[in-house]
Amino acid sequence: MTVDVTTLRADLLRRVEDKLCSHLAAERDLWAEVHEGAVVPIDALAELIDSGGKRIRPAFCLTGYLASGGDPDDPGIVAAGAALEMLHLSALVHDDVLDDSDTRRGLPTVHTKYRELHGERGLQGESRRYGEGVAILVGDLALVYSGELMSEAPRAALPEWNRLRSEVMIGQYLDVHAAAEFSVDPRGSRLIARIKSGRYTIHRPLVVGASAAGRGDLAPAFEEYGEAVGEAFQLRDDLLDAFGDSADTGKPTGLDFAQHKMTPLLGWAMQRDHHIHTLMTEPGHTPDEVRHRLLDTGVPEDVERHIANLVEHGRKAIADAPVDRVWRAELADMAERVAYRTA
Ligand code: IPE
Ligand code: IPE
Ligand code: MG
Ligand code: MG
Ligand code: MG
Repeated sequence: MTVDVTTLRADLLRRVEDKLCSHLAAERDLWAEVHEGAVVPIDALAELIDSGGKRIRPAFCLTGYLASGGDPDDPGIVAAGAALEMLHLSALVHDDVLDDSDTRRGLPTVHTKYRELHGERGLQGESRRYGEGVAILVGDLALVYSGELMSEAPRAALPEWNRLRSEVMIGQYLDVHAAAEFSVDPRGSRLIARIKSGRYTIHRPLVVGASAAGRGDLAPAFEEYGEAVGEAFQLRDDLLDAFGDSADTGKPTGLDFAQHKMTPLLGWAMQRDHHIHTLMTEPGHTPDEVRHRLLDTGVPEDVERHIANLVEHGRKAIADAPVDRVWRAELADMAERVAYRTA
């Protein structure tokens, strides 16, 4: 079989993009007639889509679908890809409130933008509460739209979709709580990385795609691949937060330190150097001090090795999967790309 994997998937990804835009445009038309201000939350989502993003979740969903022999002309899979990106937007908007982050995809986060607008316009009430209120609603709206989009996808994908969306919320709760407790538990941190991020990014989108194509039998191989590569994806995200460049990531650097995020990176470092706990809980420390201390533990190199092992594990997990070798090669490449990204 000769499949031009990238052309086929690129075409479907373009259709996902169109689906996202047309869904929002239709909603905008509807609400513009009701009230001129009603379009604001819809436009906030359109801006987030316009501002970039890697579209990793639709890409894995489409890959799972095509690798499973799904029909590329079925509009249902385009709707599923769009639903996954829309759910991701909801998670991002809320995550930025939870993490008190002021930039996303190189632009002010929703709560920051509306907090500032509130101040500039001299509106009534607290600017912060207004900004966060708008962000809660924009994120909820994206969640509702993601459900609408998914209702057009093959029904067989619904159990995985349902699991995926409750899992993100539970994972996010665990992340928030672990930061508040701030006690060292690297095994727990790894689990949280998978539950809040790796699964909804890689493992479950692949299974959504496979289920939509009627190949639920591929779920175990995709699960093993997705668990490993999903963890690698989040470990890279944690390294980029600590040592990356916000010009590349479009997000702040050092935010996880400021927010006491109990990432595996930090957990392993704190196991080796107990002083990091004191440093981070005492006022006046700088991200640079934490960064240097972390580097001195040698943990960042270990995390790199761990990422390499996870990528290898992911490759092996699909090596014997009953899918065309073109797709096995593509999944191996995708594992590398998400694990070694710079943005
Ligand atoms: C960011 O995800 C949120 C995490 C789960 C770490 P991405 O790195 O996929 O963000 P975008 O969609 O490309 O902006
Ligand atoms: C967030 O993890 C995961 C979700 C959005 C559900 P992070 O908090 O590490 O993501 P970023 O770094 O802000 O993108
Ligand atoms: Mg965050
Ligand atoms: Mg977060
Ligand atoms: Mg992060």
